[in-house]
Amino acid sequence: MEKMKFAATCLFGLERLVGEEIDALGYKRLETIDGRVYFEGDITAIARCNMWLRCAERVFIVAGEFEATTFTELFDGTKAIPWENYIGENDAFPNSGHSIKSQLVSIPDCQSIVKKAMVERLKSVYGVDWFEENETKVRIEFFILNDKATLMIDTSGEPLFKRGYREKAAEAPLRETLAAALVKLSRPRENVITWDPFCGSGTIAIESALIMTNTAPGIRRRFSSEHYRWIPKKVWQDARKEAADAVNLDTTFKAWASDIDPECVQLAKDNAKRAGMENYIKIFQKDALSIFDNGERTTIVCNPPYGERLGSIREARELYKKLGKTLSTLVPPWQMYLLTSEEEFERLYGKRANKARKLYNGMIKCYLYQYFKDFGDKKPFEGKKPHDKDFGDKKSHGDRKPFGEKKHFNKDEKRGEKK
Ligand SMILES: C[S@@+](CC[C@H](N)C(=O)[O-])C[C@H]1O[C@@H](n2cnc3c(N)ncnc32)[C@H](O)[C@@H]1O
Repeated sequence: MEKMKFAATCLFGLERLVGEEIDALGYKRLETIDGRVYFEGDITAIARCNMWLRCAERVFIVAGEFEATTFTELFDGTKAIPWENYIGENDAFPNSGHSIKSQLVSIPDCQSIVKKAMVERLKSVYGVDWFEENETKVRIEFFILNDKATLMIDTSGEPLFKRGYREKAAEAPLRETLAAALVKLSRPRENVITWDPFCGSGTIAIESALIMTNTAPGIRRRFSSEHYRWIPKKVWQDARKEAADAVNLDTTFKAWASDIDPECVQLAKDNAKRAGMENYIKIFQKDALSIFDNGERTTIVCNPPYGERLGSIREARELYKKLGKTLSTLVPPWQMYLLTSEEEFERLYGKRANKARKLYNGMIKCYLYQYFKDFGDKKPFEGKKPHDKDFGDKKSHGDRKPFGEKKHFNKDEKRGEKK
C-alpha cells in the first residue's frame, strides 16, 4: 500500500512514549521534535493510530512541507498541494496553526493565505467560483517551524484525550493522555495494585485498567476521518474489529482509587462504569494521609493538589510533608510515581526520588517523581535542593524546555528526565 507521512502530536515530555506506541503498531518513526512525532505508514495508520495511541493528542496526515519565509511562498506551497485528493467540492476546510521561530508570525494572516491558496487550487480543479462548505469538515493545520511550513490534515476531530468516558470531571482533572503516560511509566503489572489516593475523576485508575485489559483508548468514540470519503470504509471497520478482538477482560489486575471528597468518589465510580472498567477498580473515600499497609505489592500513581489550580501552595506543601511521614510507615516494596509542579517536592516529602521526569500538564511544568527503589526504606532527605545546579550529577533533572525556550532536539537526544 502507498506510504503516507503522519504527525502524532503530544504533550511535551511524552514524545518517547508516543514513538514507542507507533513502533508497536508497526509504523516507521521518521523524526521526533518537541510535542510531535513524524512517522510513515499506509492508510491503515489513520484508523489504527487514532484508535490505539494512548499518549498522543491528535493524528495528522502531512499533506505537504516547504520553505516559507514570505506570504507568497506560503501561498504557492499551499496551492501546490493536491487538496482535491482529500477535500470534496462541498466539504468545509477551516484551518488554524502555529508559527515558531519563523519569519511569518501573524497567525490570522497565515490562516487567510492558506485559505486563499486552497480555494484557488480547488476552484481550478472543481471549476466553481464559490464553495458552500456544507458537507464533511476537513480541518487543516499549518505548523511553521524555522521557516519550514508543514500543512496537515487532522484525522482525529476531538483531541484523543477525549476518550468518551469522562462526561464530568473533578476540579483540575488530568488529561487522559497524561494519565495513561503516568501509568505506562509506572509499569503496571497483574500482581501489583495501582493505587491513586488522589483520584478525583478516577482518570489514572481507569487508564490503568484500559491498559491492563488491552482496551484501545479510542474504542468508545468517533473520529472526524471516519467521515472522509476517500478513506475506504473497510479501513475503519478493520480497526474497530481489531480493537474489539484485542480486549482481554481475563486479567487479575486491580486498581484502587480513593479521594477525600465523596463527590469525587461518586464521579470516579460513574466514569469507571462508563469506561466499562468498574470490575477492575476499587473506588472508595479515604484521606491519603491515612493510607494503610494493605499487605499487597502496590504502586502509587497520582497527581495530588499542586496549589496552582487547587487550594493554596502552602496547603499543598503541608500535604507533601505529611504524605512523606505517612508513607514512611509502609513496608517495601511499594513504589510511587507522583506528578506535581512543586520543584521542592523531594525536600518536603523527605526523600529524593530515584528519577524525576519533566512533563507538562497542559501549560504547567511538572515533574513526575519516581520512587521505585527502597520505597519503604525511607531515609531523611539530606541532599541538595533538587534544582541546585550540581544536584544529583547524572541523576539530576534534564533541562529540556519547550519551543521558545530551547531549540528542538534531535530524535536520539535523551531528554526531560533525571536518570
Ligand atoms: C489534582 S486533583 C486529582 C485529579 C485526578 N487525577 C483527575 O484526573 O481527576 C487532586 C485530588 O486530590 C483530592 N485530595 C486533596 N486532599 C486530599 C487528601 N488529603 N486525601 C485524599 N484526596 C485528597 C482532591 O479532592 C482532588 O480530587
